[in-house]
Amino acid sequence: MFVRGKIINRQMKEKGRVAILLSGRGSNFEAIYHSSLKNEANFEIVVVISDKKKARGLERAREFNLNAFFVSPKKLKPKEVYERKIIEILNEHYVDLVCLAGYMRIVGEELLNAYNGRIINIHPSLLPSFPGLHAQQQAFDHGVKVSGCTVHFIDFGVDTGPIIIQETVEVKEDDTEEILSQRILKEEHKIYSRAISLFFENRLKIIGRKVIISVL
Ligand code: GRF
Repeated sequence: MFVRGKIINRQMKEKGRVAILLSGRGSNFEAIYHSSLKNEANFEIVVVISDKKKARGLERAREFNLNAFFVSPKKLKPKEVYERKIIEILNEHYVDLVCLAGYMRIVGEELLNAYNGRIINIHPSLLPSFPGLHAQQQAFDHGVKVSGCTVHFIDFGVDTGPIIIQETVEVKEDDTEEILSQRILKEEHKIYSRAISLFFENRLKIIGRKVIISVL
């Protein structure tokens, strides 16, 4: 059988093809990558793209021998031109799902329309609380007793899309913002891969604002 330009054995279950978009350190990317190497994983990372040439995550992707691209938003202007280049790379790699992992740009119409319902993000707070930048600092300063992280679909707002999964994290009396961030990050690393697996098990259905997770 000839599917997506490659010959596959009918017995072999094809894995979901994931793209990572990142701008920095890439610890979520690494966690996803390590999950993808497990036997039971139903997805693989086929390409990593960064808007920052020197992003640590991009270096790590190259060390893992993954396809890794820097796309310059400064050279490719306006934003539609930049995003068209990203779409071109995504299409060339037959990407099924785009995972934003510390990607410090607002996704524009071009990319959103091209991959509608197929772009997800991780955010270090329990949305809809504390969207935007420095979510952990915002939660810490607000004095919440519980915070956490959220994986959600992307829509036209900032951190407003339908929520897939969340994990809570306790805020302790003697926490610093740094310690809280670390505790949240540990949970981020677990839930992101879980959300990706659910996506490729075809268990996520978006109904209005809600994501219904079907039981196996
Ligand atoms: C994470 O806290 C993530 O929730 C947020 O940006 C940070 C990225 O960290 N969107 P890393 O680059 O994955 O280490």
